Amino acid sequence: MAEVPVPECLLKPLYVPRKLLMGPGPSNASPRILAAGALPLLGHLHPEFIAIMDEVKKGIQYAFQTKNEVTLAVSGTGHAAMETAACNLIEPKDVVLSVCTGIWGERFADMAERQGAKVVKITKEQGQVFSNQELEQALRRIQPTVMFVTHGESSSATCQPVNDLGILCHKYGCILIVDCVASLGAVPMYMDKWGIDVLYTGAQKVLSVSPGASPISFSERAWKKTQSRTKRVTSFYFDMTGLANYWGCDGQPRKYHHTGPISSIYGLREGLATLAEEGLEQSWKRHAQCADMLYRGIEEMNLRFLVENKEFRLPTVTAVLVPAGVQWKNVSNYVMEKYRVELAGGLGLSAGKVWRIGLMGYNATPDNIRLLLRALREGITTEQTRIPSRL
Ligand SMILES: *Cc1c(COP(=O)(O)O)cnc(C)c1O
Ligand SMILES: *[C@@H]1O[C@H](CO)[C@@H](O)[C@H](O)[C@H]1NC(C)=O
Repeated sequence: MAEVPVPECLLKPLYVPRKLLMGPGPSNASPRILAAGALPLLGHLHPEFIAIMDEVKKGIQYAFQTKNEVTLAVSGTGHAAMETAACNLIEPKDVVLSVCTGIWGERFADMAERQGAKVVKITKEQGQVFSNQELEQALRRIQPTVMFVTHGESSSATCQPVNDLGILCHKYGCILIVDCVASLGAVPMYMDKWGIDVLYTGAQKVLSVSPGASPISFSERAWKKTQSRTKRVTSFYFDMTGLANYWGCDGQPRKYHHTGPISSIYGLREGLATLAEEGLEQSWKRHAQCADMLYRGIEEMNLRFLVENKEFRLPTVTAVLVPAGVQWKNVSNYVMEKYRVELAGGLGLSAGKVWRIGLMGYNATPDNIRLLLRALREGITTEQTRIPSRL
């Protein structure tokens, strides 16, 4: 006799509403990707599954523009890839420079501290980015062994240029880790050309895949650093040496490390295939054009942007300042209730001050932008007419 009774809720059918996810992620998955998730499972070392893993690896190499052998998908969401970068590249003797343009630099600094390293943060005013000159000054002053930069800062909606940044880091004997979770596929990224040592992304942003497996790649420099550690990697699950073997990156026979998230890998394969079919250049162009269309619509409503300089805006996440007297939450509630559209609020320093509008992958289309603008305009008007002083 079971002592804990059957939960009544589980006897009802699963209910999932249809929503248009126009926040900073997840974005909606295309029918093709959803269908991939329904395919039959395979064993995690069956030859057919290994062939799919190899295709995923090739897709990541294309998306990252890298020839790195150590390229794979970590089991878990973007944070898992972030932890993988932190626990493999950092040990207590390291000095880590975390470049903060929003919450993700703070998050990485937290992870680096947990590895016992000395961590130094440099922080930019919200909505701004660093120049390579400023970063070089910091490299000279702090002499870090590891530097972390967020390419697409989804909390402040900025895009930090990372062109040639790795080359600069190498001049100072430093390894460069770049987070491109919110930007990969939408903004040009050249891992090898720019000298990036560790690059990672997530599945549920521009790739429009359900969260669960996150692409990551290590340069030869990064790989050498992990292979010459004095202390063992603190995590078994995220130890890149074991993962590289499971993903066939070390030339040795593959061994069981853990069970790969089979269905998530199918989805990732289809997300990368969608990107390959469209082509990186076309995807970059589409995201830039969609962002421009959104900017025009926002300007026509006389609303302002958190990131004033268009050059530093992240095309996948636009932060719009909430006008005085308007409650952001009321408007996003309206948009959700009436249109089933997700309009996110701020995060970290931008919390309460902005709406964040996502334009990612499958969702980055003119039709979605028109619907979102209409819903936002209506939501603000409805909210404003509620305020007595405006009546
Ligand atoms: C979303 C995001 C992450 C975290 O990804 P999760 O999948 O939520 O773990 C990391 N970095 C950036 C820039 C992001 O936008
Ligand atoms: C939000 O909407 C509610 C009604 O739904 C209204 O009473 C309120 O004044 C609005 N503003 C705030 C701050 O909640």
